Amino acid sequence: MPNGKLADISEYLQSHKSSFENDLCELLRIPSVSADSTHRGDIRRAAEWMADHFRRLDFETELIETSGCPLIYAAAPHVAGAPTALVYGHYDVQPPDPVDLWTSPPFEPTVRDGNVYARGATDDKGQMLTHVKSAQAWIETRGSLPINVKYIIEGEEEIGSVCLEEYLAENASRLACDCVVISDTSQFAPDQPAITYGLRGIAYYELSLVGPKRDLHSGSFGGAVTNPANALAGLLGEMIDEDGKIQLPGFYDDVVPLTTREREGFQALSFSDQRFLEMVGVAKTTGEAGFSSLERRWARPCLDVNGLCSGYQGEGAKTVLPAKASAKFSFRLVPDQKPENVSAGLKAFLEERCPPGITYELQEFHGSTGLLVPLDSPYVKAAARAIENGFDRSPVFIREGGSIPIVTEFADKLSNNILLLGWGQNDDNTHSPNEKFCLADYHRGIKSSAHLWAELAKLEG
Ligand code: BES
Ligand code: MN
Ligand code: MN
Repeated sequence: MPNGKLADISEYLQSHKSSFENDLCELLRIPSVSADSTHRGDIRRAAEWMADHFRRLDFETELIETSGCPLIYAAAPHVAGAPTALVYGHYDVQPPDPVDLWTSPPFEPTVRDGNVYARGATDDKGQMLTHVKSAQAWIETRGSLPINVKYIIEGEEEIGSVCLEEYLAENASRLACDCVVISDTSQFAPDQPAITYGLRGIAYYELSLVGPKRDLHSGSFGGAVTNPANALAGLLGEMIDEDGKIQLPGFYDDVVPLTTREREGFQALSFSDQRFLEMVGVAKTTGEAGFSSLERRWARPCLDVNGLCSGYQGEGAKTVLPAKASAKFSFRLVPDQKPENVSAGLKAFLEERCPPGITYELQEFHGSTGLLVPLDSPYVKAAARAIENGFDRSPVFIREGGSIPIVTEFADKLSNNILLLGWGQNDDNTHSPNEKFCLADYHRGIKSSAHLWAELAKLEG
């Protein structure tokens, strides 16, 4: 019986619920926004909070300085002959903007209807902490964990994980492991936990167009000079055709097609376009022709404009022909697309299509490849049993559309056994106002994690 096992640990978890919640709220009060340099002090406070937390468990702990935000490495006492799990998570959060749309302030965690509302609640402070609290439960009830658990917690996931990538390149042996455990994704639905076996990658750009040497009167000059804002709208529009196909040369060359088995698997999930449309508040699904919404979100590439800037933004009307226009946009990639090939295709596209009278500059931001994890590994089976114990439900197997840039590096350099065990929900408002995390999911996540250590101990080290 699931609940009969680990009775002493379950009891510890039960009696420490409010202490676990208080610890989470403490961390959520630190506005550790990585994108905004004015928050560098808060980043450090969050890193130190994490390090202190590991030190209190007597774990070997190091706060690692980088050229950006500090990393935290921690390791539980060594267990000879047992496998090693590496837990990865991030203590940085997205900016809280627009702040006036929050019901309660983003860095004053507030509990309503069983959810804690705060920036970082689900992404990723709450989810990451489940694997620390589960270790605490083992240490305080049994004196030790049944396997080797190491942690690498970073503060730059939301800006591309550059420093962790550098650290990993030089310290792979320190992070050596049999599997990587990450909780930074979602369940499939409320009460339907999931193991995620695929993520999309990303290629992010900013394109700036320059036309006339200064802003012009659009009456005097309009029609005779290329308007950079018109040109930008045109170029962005031409990047996708009416079938939702991206028009960069070679863009689909490396796309791994969906297998029939996978398409059937997606189809078998209880997903309704109608409920999805209600959740996002639009009237119709759109996207690449010939694919379902789940296929489009999880297993096909896409292009989204993330920000647009040009011309008059103030109140009322101003007749201006702006001298400049710029856009931030990103492609979500699927295996085996490579960001560098997308960049080459994008440059060729711009060379060919950029209209006369316009010069352009392309800035490349972060890039990462997509991930597909083999499902038939003993590690995935161990994780599924752990989730059954924590949620009283078997997990379904899903892919997700978001990106965790460092995971493919982990897969290449450390282990292909990447366990993406998401405790969040699709409506947790990640990156949006009123981000939340369901406290029951927090506790079920901790319980699943406590069982995961026991399940992994049954495998060979
Ligand atoms: N936790 C998310 C990744 C995620 C999002 C997984 C949605 C599953 C579903 C992560 O913190 C994130 O936001 N990643 C960024 C990466 C980017 C900044 C390089 C993303 O996907 O936009
Ligand atoms: Mn995250
Ligand atoms: Mn995020």
